[in-house]
Amino acid sequence: MAETMLKKEYAKAELLKLNNRFSDLNGHAPLAYVHSFGCQQNVSDAEKLKGQLSQIGYDFTDDMTSAQLIILNTCAVRENAEDRVFGTIGNLKKFKQQNPDTIIAVCGCMAQQKHIAQKIKSTYRQVDLVFGTFAYNDLYQMLFEVLSQKTRVFNQTEKITDISEEFSQLRSDKLRAFVPIMYGCNNFCTYCIVPYVRGRERSRKPEAVVKEVRDLVSDGYKEITLLGQNVNSYSYGFAALLKEIDRIPGKFRIRFMSSHPKDASKELIDTIIESEKICKCLHLPLQSGCDRILKLMNRHYDKAQYLDIINYARSKKPEFSFSTDIIVGFPGETYDEFCETKELIKQVKYDNIYSFVYSRRSGTKAAEFEDNISDKQKGLWLRELLLEQRDVTTNWLSRFVGKTVEVLAEGEGRLADGYLTGKNDEGIIVEFKADKKYIGEFVQVRITKAMNWALEGESVEDK
Ligand code: SAH
Ligand code: SF4
Ligand code: F3S
Repeated sequence: MAETMLKKEYAKAELLKLNNRFSDLNGHAPLAYVHSFGCQQNVSDAEKLKGQLSQIGYDFTDDMTSAQLIILNTCAVRENAEDRVFGTIGNLKKFKQQNPDTIIAVCGCMAQQKHIAQKIKSTYRQVDLVFGTFAYNDLYQMLFEVLSQKTRVFNQTEKITDISEEFSQLRSDKLRAFVPIMYGCNNFCTYCIVPYVRGRERSRKPEAVVKEVRDLVSDGYKEITLLGQNVNSYSYGFAALLKEIDRIPGKFRIRFMSSHPKDASKELIDTIIESEKICKCLHLPLQSGCDRILKLMNRHYDKAQYLDIINYARSKKPEFSFSTDIIVGFPGETYDEFCETKELIKQVKYDNIYSFVYSRRSGTKAAEFEDNISDKQKGLWLRELLLEQRDVTTNWLSRFVGKTVEVLAEGEGRLADGYLTGKNDEGIIVEFKADKKYIGEFVQVRITKAMNWALEGESVEDK
């Protein structure tokens, strides 16, 4: 441990020297381009990587071609996510020939998989550094090795180190912040690669989380999203953590994701409803509305238990908002079983649905299951589901028409000039007429119309 620290400090000091020399020669700091694919956990990891890079003298750019260091932080959850990354890496071949000194790194969930690391090693020689999700804290040593020894470095360690609370983060958003409360997943849903690339569950200490949120709020952040693959299995008690964060003084909102239905308790719903700052919405991934498929997915709940949570929340607060994830075309799923999912969507009335065609992930259990439905057919089912959802959501969103809701104004809107965009408490996009001076503020908005993707309204502040 002490030796690792020494190596890290040494590498850090040497990298800083190298980068200062670069700045002296070029009149500007070396630039890093850091791009994340995938979920918010990846965005959060990238903020920590950027924090480390800024301590050794890097500045940041959004233009990949002007960077001295390119980091692609990848996602492995579906095949198309991986294809996109390979496309990007492929396009960098020529660039690397013309810019041999630019370091190209691939990290994150894809890079954790040994077969992917092997593929990059043999076919994508333009990549200098490949490191998985357990190696983020070794960034300095890895980078120094690449630069000083002119070698390629591959680090797919699975060794879990203690959760380090001594990290710096560089957040690009000044309004909304992601705060991980736990890492990893123990659930092994049969379709999912996450437990294999993120390891077992580890929870951060509540004191550390509460301190981070407190600091963010005093820095002016207005929306805090707590992250975990299944926040309900936070080992120090999730409802208790929520209550403590809700007591932090200041005007801000609390969101979290994801919540596994098998552990979503009535206590959680009560905590949300009784709180001051927790948004009255829950992202509760359903995946399928058919009990046989849920069992094959290893989800540990059935349709009745799922509906039980929905009904409990709605009995306390009829407009309670739910969003969900759906997988279409799980191996062996029949059209009738798919229709059960469509039926449940109508019954629950979601404000938002993220739906995906099943993607086979090698190494997972479901990858061995027989699958007779073509991807083309599954694509048609997905379209059918999206059409159903459009009607359900538009109808359900109309409950807001005529009401005044609080919106956190994020920026200029898409509908027309003079519009701002933001989200209401329920996480629904609201496009509304208001002066630009409200960007970054909570605004009271009267809703005039429900569309299928958003609400439309006007600020009541200007009246
Ligand atoms: N931990 C979160 C989900 C993380 S992955 C949870 O359990 O809620 C986000 C979503 O991707 C999942 O909810 C699922 O709908 C989808 N997904 C995961 N693996 C998939 C696969 N192999 N094919 C298609 N969709 C998948
Ligand atoms: Fe994947 Fe299931 Fe874990 Fe979510 S709970 S990350 S879907 S294994
Ligand atoms: Fe993708 Fe990894 Fe997140 S696989 S969804 S980036 S945890």
